[in-house]
Amino acid sequence: MLSKKQTQLPIFITSNSPFKSSLFFIIIFLTAWFLLLFFWLPPTNPIHINLHRAYHLISNHIINSHMHRQPFSVYIYDMPSEFNLGLVKNCHHLNMHRDMCPHVANHGLGQPLQHVNAVGPACWFATNQFTAAMIFHARLENHPLRTWDPSRATLFYVPFYGGLHASSKFRETNLTARDELAVRFSEFLESQPWWQRNNGKDHFVVLGRTAWDFMRTKGGPDYGASTLLNLPRVQNLSVLAIERNPWTGKNQHGIPYPSYFHPCTSSQMLTWQHSMRLSKRPHLFSFVGAPRKGLQRAAIRDELIKQCGESIRCKLLTCRYGSGPSNKCSSPSEILGVMSKSQFCLQAPGDSFTRRSTFDSVLAGCIPVFFSRHTAYTQYMWYLPQDAEEYSVYINGENGNATRRIEDELMKIPRERVERMRKKVIDLIPRVTYKHPNASDDDLKSCKFRFRNLRGQDIIVSIERTNYDGGARLL
Ligand SMILES: *[C@@H]1O[C@H](CO)[C@@H](O)[C@H](O)[C@H]1NC(C)=O
Ligand SMILES: *[C@@H]1O[C@H](CO)[C@@H](O)[C@H](O)[C@H]1NC(C)=O
Ligand SMILES: *[C@@H]1O[C@H](CO)[C@@H](O)[C@H](O)[C@H]1NC(C)=O
Ligand SMILES: *[C@@H]1O[C@H](CO)[C@@H](O)[C@H](O)[C@H]1NC(C)=O
Repeated sequence: MLSKKQTQLPIFITSNSPFKSSLFFIIIFLTAWFLLLFFWLPPTNPIHINLHRAYHLISNHIINSHMHRQPFSVYIYDMPSEFNLGLVKNCHHLNMHRDMCPHVANHGLGQPLQHVNAVGPACWFATNQFTAAMIFHARLENHPLRTWDPSRATLFYVPFYGGLHASSKFRETNLTARDELAVRFSEFLESQPWWQRNNGKDHFVVLGRTAWDFMRTKGGPDYGASTLLNLPRVQNLSVLAIERNPWTGKNQHGIPYPSYFHPCTSSQMLTWQHSMRLSKRPHLFSFVGAPRKGLQRAAIRDELIKQCGESIRCKLLTCRYGSGPSNKCSSPSEILGVMSKSQFCLQAPGDSFTRRSTFDSVLAGCIPVFFSRHTAYTQYMWYLPQDAEEYSVYINGENGNATRRIEDELMKIPRERVERMRKKVIDLIPRVTYKHPNASDDDLKSCKFRFRNLRGQDIIVSIERTNYDGGARLL
């Protein structure tokens, strides 16, 4: 399923030629845009629009007449509860390894944490890595650009917690039964008048697990996945997931794994960023993770653990399966404690290319070191700088090959560059942080990202009310 094929990767974000537009169009558009801003924004809301953003908007042909009339409003489907809240109610049986009930609490934020320092307790939660869909949903429900009138909506959010369901069916050997809900989901879409209008191309779903968990193919190996993302109708849906298929996932967009920090206010965010800037980092690098058996892709892990163990400059936090107190990896303060004292954090692929740990390390101001391009670069284009060297280190580790000593590679990097990268990483924290669903929008400063739905509408997502906030970034 995860082929090793490294052919040319589809670069997802392409731009309709920005320069085709006539000057006339641009002027008309800018005028319309400013008028729109003027009327759309409540007067108390400061208008933060700068030339850079205006350029962005123009260059991506964001507008059509429909959006002029009613920009960026999102309609949330009221779905049968078997697709969302019914799954949450069944939380004792969602996952064979653990009881998900504590994790789906608080709209997917999980249990509040008392012990993480620096910022008030209300912003820290023991958030599970697979609950992004719930947090997203909670955020969108409170969103100022939500509309209850589908005829006014430009975007349609389909709140299906497909990831929660997937993990409950990994061991289901009857494939018809495993795929039943996915098929009903597809039928639900088809039966909606608003789906018909644009063949679903203005609809999106958020999945809190990797795309691979929904991409079983006929005749391919069976890792427990459903066929959700291979169903014909679903091809017309924009799919936001914590890991996309970099080769065929043309309608898939990577969104961050949730980490533990869910601030309500910008001052909580700024305080945290400040403390990460000041943090002393005695370890050159660290690795937090468990060994993996068998998988070729993860073979690099054994090598990293070996190299880390042999180096006095490396801090190793080994994890074991299970969630008891002996497992330090289930302790957010242990994890962030190690990462915030490290300059570099190794991000080896595990069961799949991506890791939640990447986002924990950004949160801790620790520069990520990647061993596969698919751990971040082909995944999170909405969130991370295009130039990977600005914020990360890449060591080619395809095929489990990390023959070079990581310590030597990292020692070679000049100190100024390390500091530049760390600054960039800390600046990225707001972009990849799911803020508290009840946080007020005006309070948290954040950056934008671009969302092209399948109608070809580019949507600049930002916390300011100028745009639809798909919410993934600072939810
Ligand atoms: C947000 O506020 C509402 C209303 O006070 C509350 O019901 C909900 O549980 C809160 N959400 C979270 C995640 O705490
Ligand atoms: C497999 O599941 C389907 C749908 O739940 C059911 O109708 C069918 O009888 C099952 N097949 C077997 C062999 O159990
Ligand atoms: C997807 O959209 C295209 C038009 O944009 C339409 O022709 C096609 O039938 C749609 N596919 C499905 C399965 O609805
Ligand atoms: C492993 O890395 C070394 C050094 O970078 C390189 O010479 C070698 O060809 C690589 N082997 C594979 C199988 O990629």
